[in-house]
Amino acid sequence: MSEVVKLAMVKRCAVITIDSPPVNALSAAVRGGVLDSVNAANADGTVEVIVIACAGRTFIAGADITEFGKPPQHPRLSDVIAGIEASAKPVIAAIHGTALGGGLELALGCHFRVAVKDAKLGLPEVKLGLVPGAGGTQRLPRAVGPELAVRMIVSGEPIGAAEALERGLVDEIVDSTTSGAVAFAEKVVAERRPLRLLRTDDSKLVAARADRSLFTAAAASATKKSRGLIAPLACADAVSWALDLPFEEALDKERECFLKLLSDDQSKAQRYAFFAEREAAKLRGVPDGTQPRPVERVAIVGAGTMGSGIAMAFANAGIPVTLIDTGAEQLDRGLGMMRKNWDATAARSGIAADEPAKRMALIDGKVGLEHVADADLVIEAVFETMAVKKQVFTAIDAHAKPGALLATNTSYLDINEIAAVTKRPQDVVGMHFFSPANIMKLCEIVRADQTAPDVLLTATTLARRIRKTAVVVGVCHGFVGNRMLAVRGWQGESLLRSGALPEQVDAVMTRFGLPMGPFAMGDLAGLDIGWRSRQDRGIRWDIADAICESGRLGQKTQKGYYRYEPGSRAPLPDPEVERLIEQTCERLGLRRRAIDDEEILERMIYPMINEGARILEENIAARPSDIDVIWLYGYGWPIHRGGPMFYADQVGLKTIVERLEFFAQRLNDPALRPTPLLARLASEGGSFASMNRAPAVG
Ligand code: 3HC
Ligand code: NAI
Repeated sequence: MSEVVKLAMVKRCAVITIDSPPVNALSAAVRGGVLDSVNAANADGTVEVIVIACAGRTFIAGADITEFGKPPQHPRLSDVIAGIEASAKPVIAAIHGTALGGGLELALGCHFRVAVKDAKLGLPEVKLGLVPGAGGTQRLPRAVGPELAVRMIVSGEPIGAAEALERGLVDEIVDSTTSGAVAFAEKVVAERRPLRLLRTDDSKLVAARADRSLFTAAAASATKKSRGLIAPLACADAVSWALDLPFEEALDKERECFLKLLSDDQSKAQRYAFFAEREAAKLRGVPDGTQPRPVERVAIVGAGTMGSGIAMAFANAGIPVTLIDTGAEQLDRGLGMMRKNWDATAARSGIAADEPAKRMALIDGKVGLEHVADADLVIEAVFETMAVKKQVFTAIDAHAKPGALLATNTSYLDINEIAAVTKRPQDVVGMHFFSPANIMKLCEIVRADQTAPDVLLTATTLARRIRKTAVVVGVCHGFVGNRMLAVRGWQGESLLRSGALPEQVDAVMTRFGLPMGPFAMGDLAGLDIGWRSRQDRGIRWDIADAICESGRLGQKTQKGYYRYEPGSRAPLPDPEVERLIEQTCERLGLRRRAIDDEEILERMIYPMINEGARILEENIAARPSDIDVIWLYGYGWPIHRGGPMFYADQVGLKTIVERLEFFAQRLNDPALRPTPLLARLASEGGSFASMNRAPAVG
């Protein structure tokens, strides 16, 4: 029929196969091909039944996101679905892989759906800042009931085939989408099953129309965490139209809502983030044909906060771990923490009841670095001191097998210096996980001067295997994320000196969309970490230091930038802190003034963007979008703001340069001057986005 859609006959069943790699997205060609094939099969007197299936790794994974924002091309997806619904012959969707977004909407337009047992079905549009735009919000509630539908559509999370069968989203589980679907099709014909159109079947809406309470509760619980995002609320509204409006009217409203969100900055940012994450996976400087080294066992040195979390991440993915520390006590503490963590997850049904034991069985606790010997990857997570790291790496080098990757989880230290103590610097790489390492998605993969391409590829492949988002960065103090965070940290201190209070700064940042303000975050992490690091480097932050010197180390002492009631984590503004700030400023001869929210936002964020530009100049990050991915997945940057570099483009680089110049002068801080790259892009009317599309460097 077409390049991407084929029509074949299996006896009297017309099998329409979509073959549009990589994920059979609904491009104009696919849409046209499906509609033509359905029409052709209807016109062919020998056809009794129609199956729509996909070749390759998955059923249709949704609308083609790359077409969004371009002039629409016909036929529209809703026309294709209308064509399927109008078919006089039964149409069956045969699902494998993931039926997502427009893919599931197309399947919902079919009269029947079958799926293989490991298939997943969902409407993830919300993750792109959208509502489903081709009837999903109206047909899914009719298939599974409005309560489950609102949970699925607001969360964007798919359900598995077994649940889909139980809830009526699929009619049968089949062994294969080809023979199984055809066999099901023959049954439909033989049994003369009536064609079921979801658009006319309101049976699962009746109860909720009579009593809204269950639906209202499901919608409220699903939207509870939507923090500043408009799409989840719009999704819940759209599902409610299934209860309140005639089908066609609700479809029109859904479409209108979809188009409105499509042009909103939030969706633009979320779609950008989708592609940025995938772009980060494309490694530069790794020759084609490079193969990752096989990794079957991992050794983790240091069973502290990070080592234990990293071990959990590997065990969660079924990879066996040798966890090493200096003594039984340290080891037991780490293993105990892991067990407690998994037990808690099992207790709230996050994992099956027998999983904690299964995962613990994958962890082999040992004392002594000689136990790294059978590992294909060794990850060091000991104290953050160069002398200790060198000592540990010398020992690892002596015991690790040839070809093993030697990784460090250091937050700041020079990995070239660490690699130099080994006889195999080509095998040394940074794998910088974030705390808690079993939860946080980001892993900065640090490429040192001599890191071999296959080592880099192995580290990123492995990070993905344990479901982390890997971003390659270069060596510098703090790499990308912590380096920019340090700049923001200094700006926080500087704002307190100028006249702001911690609660004011935190309020501005949480309103911007961060889950927590930087001062509350500092209290949570413990203020002594930064204090000690400043002391080591001979740096003084007078207010931060005064807070620590007065014994306020954060939540653990119930006092930091805030005070905390016993047993509570809620930060409460403290007049004592205000006094400490004022006294320190007096001592420094600084006159404090009222600072407005706009100044706070600009001073917290623009210097970070400037640092991001410096990081790009130094080739520490390959592209602006990599920096954004780091901030999205490592530091809770709000997804609807795309990342700091994306946000910079939205504000306009010219504005950012002007404001940085203004602050550099006003605060007499030359570090705030725009970097040459930022200044050049601004003067040329350029953007960071244009650098994302630039040819590969390095
Ligand atoms: N449109 C265009 N390209 C897509 C795409 C889509 N819907 N989904 C994935 N791709 C591309 C990716 O960009 C990537 O391209 P690249 O190789 O050039 O980087 C390639 O397909 C493979 O994707 P992944 O690396 O993500 O592959 P995985 O196997 O890890 O995951 C997936 C597959 C689960 C399908 C995942 O890609 C995914 O979640 N895709 C998005 C699904 C989605 O959001 N669908 C809804 C779209 S909006 C919609 O349908 C609107 C409708 O209601 C009208
Ligand atoms: P931690 O103090 O909780 O744990 C360190 C562990 O290493 C301790 O159990 C200690 O006994 C063990 N250890 C020390 N010397 C050892 C040796 N010679 N052999 C074997 N084990 C040894 O420290 P944490 O927080 O886990 O940090 C570890 C590393 O991870 C540091 O480099 C840190 O910078 C980095 N990191 C920390 C993050 C955090 O938020 N805590 C985040 C990202 C990285």
